Amino acid sequence: MAEKHSSKGIMWAVIIVAVVLIAILYPLTVKKSTSAADAASSDGDQAEVRIQPVARFQMTKAEAPAADGAPKDGPTVYNSVCGACHNTGAAGAPKLDAKAEWAPRVATGKEALYASVINGKNAMPPKGGATNLSDDEIKGAVDYILGKVQ
Ligand code: HEC
Repeated sequence: MAEKHSSKGIMWAVIIVAVVLIAILYPLTVKKSTSAADAASSDGDQAEVRIQPVARFQMTKAEAPAADGAPKDGPTVYNSVCGACHNTGAAGAPKLDAKAEWAPRVATGKEALYASVINGKNAMPPKGGATNLSDDEIKGAVDYILGKVQ
């Protein structure tokens, strides 16, 4: 009988120690998971949460210069927007260093070229895709091209 009692005592002691340990450790594990990465539960979600701010930062960085007030000059607009196609010939764009490709276009006159770029022409989207640029900034970029190809 005495043996039975003492083994019961050990059993209770073990249970109490286990409960105390759980009571101490459980809040710690909860704190850890909430501070790690917001509401994300699985590893995949946490990875997404961690890479998101980087992507957002790059987006705002790319759009920021056009949003401020100062107008951009021709070379700046050309290098940041137009060069993507006109330096490489992407999408069939006439290349800046191919004067022969430009000759028939130049012959149509400045105003026609301004209008082509502002409104878009075939594979070239309106304003080369940078619709936040003003007409004058686009004209500056066209003038820059004309200065190079004539
Ligand atoms: C997405 C690629 C792309 C971008 C960006 C782009 N262009 Fe073009 N551009 C083209 C293509 C393609 C053509 C030829 C269109 C055609 O005649 O079919 C063209 C043609 C032109 C022409 C001749 C238009 C005409 O009437 O013959 C001018 C001038 C021009 N681009 C200026 C610019 C300027 C300035 C920018 C920047 C603001 C710019 N492009 C950005 C693809 C682009």
